Amino acid sequence: MINAKKIREDFPILKRKVYGKPLVYLDNAATTQKPVQVIQAMNYYYENYNSNVHRAVHKLSQEATVEYDEAHEKVAKFIAATGMEEVIFTKNTTESLNLAANSLSQQLKKGDEIVLTQMEHHSNIVPWQQAAKRTGAKLRFLEIDGNGELKLQHNSATSGMCNRTSSDLQLPQLMSKKTKIVAFTHVSNVLGTINPAKEIIAAAKEAGAITVLDAAQSVPHMPVDVKKLDCDFMAFSAHKMLGPTGIGVLYGKQELLEKMEPLLYGGDMISEVSFQDAKWNELPWKFEAGTPNVAGAVGLTAAVDYLEGIGVENIHEHEKMLTKMAMEKLRQIDELTIYGPEAARRGGLVSFNINGIHPHDVSAMLDAEGIAVRGGHHCAMPLAKLLGITGTARASFYLYNTQEEIEKLAEALETAAAKMKKMAARTA
Ligand SMILES: Cc1ncc(COP(=O)(O)O)c(C=O)c1O
Repeated sequence: MINAKKIREDFPILKRKVYGKPLVYLDNAATTQKPVQVIQAMNYYYENYNSNVHRAVHKLSQEATVEYDEAHEKVAKFIAATGMEEVIFTKNTTESLNLAANSLSQQLKKGDEIVLTQMEHHSNIVPWQQAAKRTGAKLRFLEIDGNGELKLQHNSATSGMCNRTSSDLQLPQLMSKKTKIVAFTHVSNVLGTINPAKEIIAAAKEAGAITVLDAAQSVPHMPVDVKKLDCDFMAFSAHKMLGPTGIGVLYGKQELLEKMEPLLYGGDMISEVSFQDAKWNELPWKFEAGTPNVAGAVGLTAAVDYLEGIGVENIHEHEKMLTKMAMEKLRQIDELTIYGPEAARRGGLVSFNINGIHPHDVSAMLDAEGIAVRGGHHCAMPLAKLLGITGTARASFYLYNTQEEIEKLAEALETAAAKMKKMAARTA
C-alpha cells in the first residue's frame, strides 16, 4: 500500500486552501496535479538547455534532442511497446485519436463498419463520425447494460469461468467481415467501468479489424501492456498522469504506422523535399510535424519516473481502496444515485446524482467546502442521454488522495442531501 500522506508532500498545490478550507482535489479524471519533480524538471530545461530539437549541432540542441528522444523510449518502456518508433507525441488523447481516425480512414470504403461503444468520450466518437462521413462507412455501437458494463454476452456454457477466450465472447451481430475498426475506451470516464480490453481486442482481431484503445483513464492508473493487450493503437494524455498539459501519446504497431499517412505536414516529418514532392521521415518523426513540445516531453519523462517509483500497480490498489470506501459511504445517502458497476469492476472514480439537485449545483456545494469534483456530461453526451440524465457529479481519485478526503466528501454530500430533503418537505 502506498503512503498518500507522504506523497502529498511532493505536490505543492495540495497545500493550498480554497475559501479558507484545505483543498480536497477529486477531479483527477479531468486532470491531475503535478509533483515538484515534474515542475522542477521542466524549469531546469527552460533554465539550462532550452533549444529546438533535431536541427542544430550546438550543445543546447544536442542536450534537448537527447532528452526529447529519450522521452519516447521512456514512454515505450512504460507501456511495453517495442521501441520509440511506436510512440508518437501529440497534443493530447484527442489529437492522438484524431490522428488514428484520420490516417486509418484512408483505408475505409462505403459499407465498412466502425465499432465503438455507448460509453465513449466525445474524443472517441466525433473523429470516427467524421471518418464515416468522409468514407461512407457506418458506425455501430456496443451497448451497455443496467450496470454500465458492455453487453458482451458470454456463452452460458463458459460463463463464470475465469479464463474466457475471445471465442467465448459474442459481440452480437456487431463484429463481422464488414468490421474494419474497433475503437473503445479502456476505462469509462463517466461510469468507471473497466472494459475487458484483451477479450474485445481478440474478438476484433478474429473479425480482421484494427483496434484503437482510448487509454486516457487507464494508463495513468493501472499497468497497461500493449503487447499483452495486443492493441494496434492506443491513446493517452500526459496531464492525466502527473505530467504537463499539451503533450499526449499515440502508440501504434510499427508495421501499421509505416503504412499510414501523416495527419500534419511540414518541418521535421520529412526526409527529403523538392519543389514538387516530399518523402517522409522515419518513425516516429513522420507523425511529429513542426517544433514539438520539448518541455512537455521533459515533464512527461519526470512524470513516468515518478509513477514508476511509486509503482502503477500500487496506485491501482490505492484507488480501489478509496473507490470501495467512497461507494460504501455514498450508498448510505438515500437521495443519492451512483452510476456504473461495483467497486471491484471499476477504476478510481464515482459518478452520482442527488435527487432534485442539478450536478452543477452539487459541484458548487462541494466547492464551497473546498472539494473539487466535476459536474456535467463529462464529454459523453450520448451516454448521458442514454441514461436519461443531464449529467452527473464525479469524484475521481489518484495516488495522493486520502481516506480523510473521502470522509469529507461523504459528509458534505450528506449535508447537501439533507438540505435538499428539508427544502422539498417545506414546499410539499
Ligand atoms: C476516456 C477519455 N478519453 C479521452 C479524453 C480526452 O482527453 P484530452 O482532453 O486530454 O484529449 C478524456 C478526457 O477526459 C477521457 O476521459
